[in-house]
Amino acid sequence: MCGIVGYVGKRSACDILVSGLRRLEYRGYDSAGVALLTQGGGLEVVKQTGKVAALEARLSETVAAEARAGACAGIAHTRWATHGLPTEANAHPHLADGGRLALVHNGIIENYAALRRQLEARGCVFVSQTDTEVLAHLVATFDAGDLLAAVSQALKRVEGTYGVAVVSTRYPGQLVVARRGSPLVIGLGEGETIVASDVSAIVSHTRQVVYLQDGDVARVAAGGAQIYTLDQAVVDREVSCVEWEIGAAEKSGYEHFMLKEIFEQPAALQNAIRGRLDPVLGTALLSGLNLGPRELASIRRLVIVACGTSLHAGMVGKYLFEGLADMPTDPEQAAEFRYCNPILGADDLVVAISQSGETADTLAAVREGIQKGALVAGLCNVVGSTIAREAGRGVYLHAGPEIGVASTKAFTAQVTVLLMMALKLGRCRRLSREAGLTLCEEIAALPGKVEAVLAQNDAIAAVAAKYAGAENAFFIGRGILYPTALEGALKLKEISYIHAEGYQAAELKHGPIALLDERMPVIALLNDIPGKEKTLGNVQECRARRAPVLGLVTEDDEEAARMVCDTIRLPRTSAYTAPVVTAVALQLLSYHVARLRGCEIDQPRNLAKSVTVE
Ligand code: AGP
Repeated sequence: MCGIVGYVGKRSACDILVSGLRRLEYRGYDSAGVALLTQGGGLEVVKQTGKVAALEARLSETVAAEARAGACAGIAHTRWATHGLPTEANAHPHLADGGRLALVHNGIIENYAALRRQLEARGCVFVSQTDTEVLAHLVATFDAGDLLAAVSQALKRVEGTYGVAVVSTRYPGQLVVARRGSPLVIGLGEGETIVASDVSAIVSHTRQVVYLQDGDVARVAAGGAQIYTLDQAVVDREVSCVEWEIGAAEKSGYEHFMLKEIFEQPAALQNAIRGRLDPVLGTALLSGLNLGPRELASIRRLVIVACGTSLHAGMVGKYLFEGLADMPTDPEQAAEFRYCNPILGADDLVVAISQSGETADTLAAVREGIQKGALVAGLCNVVGSTIAREAGRGVYLHAGPEIGVASTKAFTAQVTVLLMMALKLGRCRRLSREAGLTLCEEIAALPGKVEAVLAQNDAIAAVAAKYAGAENAFFIGRGILYPTALEGALKLKEISYIHAEGYQAAELKHGPIALLDERMPVIALLNDIPGKEKTLGNVQECRARRAPVLGLVTEDDEEAARMVCDTIRLPRTSAYTAPVVTAVALQLLSYHVARLRGCEIDQPRNLAKSVTVE
């Protein structure tokens, strides 16, 4: 996803902008650019396809060191192409007003074609295929001596989503920023102000931040920022303090962010669990839900809305809520949900699961749930994210920043939080105190169980070497292990580019088995929980077609181990916590396969960490 950084203050803007873009690289991008307001009143703009390193080299080649050092304000951008190819012409910033104004933008201007025609009729000349350039020219046409007013007037005519930052040589020492549907954060430093699309580009400079909300527009100067509505009414936003350390957003000696975050999972789960288990009543304490026992007991159905890995966590949640709380639960792909005119009522609880809290389809699903009068809760990792705020209630994962595009610790934290929610709901219904206490103990033991899986890392790497040459793979599981199989297939797919599919184990004989031969490995989830024997039968069907089978088996289950070609050993768990330990093993398997295939693990091709566009 695109990234924005802006700076105004007493230091060299160029260095701060480029280092800020580096902090945002994990979001996925294909080009980058910088616009600097120079001391001489000019505007230096450099854009480059490829990585931030290429942009930095181009800056050194084309902008004199003195000009770079003297520029104390500017904006920068990493672009993930939505309109137009990833070319230098389409890279941001985009210019207008004869090269005096520069603008960067995250989001999609849906009425850009009509606006472009109107602007061309007024003589504007376009040099790119982007919707963003339209916005730059639109701002320039409204400039009558106040940049914030010009941006506001332009944005009133825009349909779609935006996070924008604008500079102009007519207004030295000033940025104007605005947001609708694409996050922007303002960092308040000592005599300097930094703006970014996420806090990881700010936190090394200041912890005092203001999260802009939809409809906000702000004038930013070295001394701080003033926020308004698009109608110029003053808006008062609270200043928050960022809790986590910048080190949390660095690799800390690991080869990849993904590997670091896989190994962070014991700590991430401890953070997710901390203070949320009640050892007396055998329930979970989730105050952020703002729902007491009577309100929880009156809920008749859960609808879970999410995308990708978060949807897989929601599908695991179905088994948890229905198994522990007798609660009918419907996991829905958020984009499908938002457009299907969902049937919802006041006694439905919509649970939106989103690591980033910014996924456009999930945010739209939240808004549809609110519109239909349902209760809505968010399960997010990023504090202050749009989904977390608009849901109005929910549970934060506290898993720490997840930088690797492939989600790992967020998934296991999501499942663990869903397990605690199911425990809480169950204890408002038929789940006994004794059963609740037993589950509390099992949840509390999860970090240690995950440690046991991580201790298998070398063994898993050795197994990965046997399967790294595959071009296709099946992942099969039953019951709660079916969405776990889907998640395992997604992990392998997105970082190793192997075509991997997840299936209900029983589904193989209804068609997919036609593809089985010695070139089609099958990863079978054979945890020693109900359904294992049936899945072993499916394993036999696979072996009979010469398909190599890698079995994820419970550590002391020799019966299952004998029936597969290779094994990954898992700690013994109940069905409810099996997805957590199994997912960690599948994450390591995918990681090592991708590493052996020489893939770009933290920023896989075509992917973005947060899909803030439809
Ligand atoms: C998971 O590895 C992917 N990065 C992707 O499927 C992701 O889970 C999905 O885009 C949802 O993101 P969110 O949790 O931030 O909403």
